[in-house]
Amino acid sequence: MNNTNYLINIMEDQIAFNKNKSLFFEGRTIFETSNEMNDLLMYHFDKVQNLFAKDNIELNKLILASSEKTMEVFQNSNQYISFRDKDKIILQRLYKDILIKLKTNYLNTGSLSEKVISECFNEHYRNLKEFLKITNGKNLFESYKLSETIPHVVCEEYSAELQIKILGLDIENLEEPIIDIGCGKEFRLVKLLREKGYEAYGLDRINSKEDFIIKSNWMDYNFKPTKWGTIVSHMAFSNHFNHHHLREDGQYVDFMKKYLEILKSLKVKGILAYAPKIEVVEEIVKNHYKGVYKLEKKGLSINITRFK
Ligand SMILES: C[S@@+](CC[C@H](N)C(=O)[O-])C[C@H]1O[C@@H](n2cnc3c(N)ncnc32)[C@H](O)[C@@H]1O
Repeated sequence: MNNTNYLINIMEDQIAFNKNKSLFFEGRTIFETSNEMNDLLMYHFDKVQNLFAKDNIELNKLILASSEKTMEVFQNSNQYISFRDKDKIILQRLYKDILIKLKTNYLNTGSLSEKVISECFNEHYRNLKEFLKITNGKNLFESYKLSETIPHVVCEEYSAELQIKILGLDIENLEEPIIDIGCGKEFRLVKLLREKGYEAYGLDRINSKEDFIIKSNWMDYNFKPTKWGTIVSHMAFSNHFNHHHLREDGQYVDFMKKYLEILKSLKVKGILAYAPKIEVVEEIVKNHYKGVYKLEKKGLSINITRFK
């Protein structure tokens, strides 16, 4: 394993080490550094120092991997935590800052004491807390103040058959290409559609090795006009739209804009099928787009067909 990968491993383990602790707890949360991290900082800091001495490529690799891991841990802990492309740059800056702070202390004194390490990390955790508030608003974290450990937020993946049933899809007659927004780590519906021979893609913020899975925040993805034959989204985009609509500091205006962009990305005769419903928006589509889109309630879901 090369030096950078070794450092990435230690950094990723450190991020996972405190993953269940609340940054917002109003009592005192103890954030600890792992044994490996302590060992690295106290006795082998030259390995980090070397990155600065060499070139920026290796240092940037470490910063990028650390910020990616942090976002993954936050998003996995609560599906309503979300980061846009522009947020990633702020987070990378925070990682650069802590590394520079550690390096400066190391160069000044020739070593890093437990006290300095703890001060640097505590400042980093305060910065992470601000970063979460700036990017996701304060309301989401109200309940995080009550306990040292973070609350559990449900986020399930469902069988392809159940999704087809709930979305009311006519599985033998779908227009192509198909996109599943928030397809899940296992992209079960996309898999089944591709097995049936459809040109189907998934979109999710989760990493995937498959080239038919697009890795993006749906808010940053450009849904091009009249591109998609079928758009599906089960317990994903509309669920988050409802969540933001109910929240005082929710980003429902951004969701509304994206929803309209998604609608317009349907081909003529194309269908958008999603669950759960978003009643506030469906009224607008019904009243303002008569003759363009037809809306149908199918049990728990909504199907919208584009006519022109
Ligand atoms: C409850 S799961 C549903 C997965 C799948 N549709 C199903 O029914 O099995 C919601 C999915 O939406 C994804 N997701 C949440 N917010 C997202 C965002 N802003 N951009 C892209 N994907 C997102 C999550 O990563 C997760 O995979």
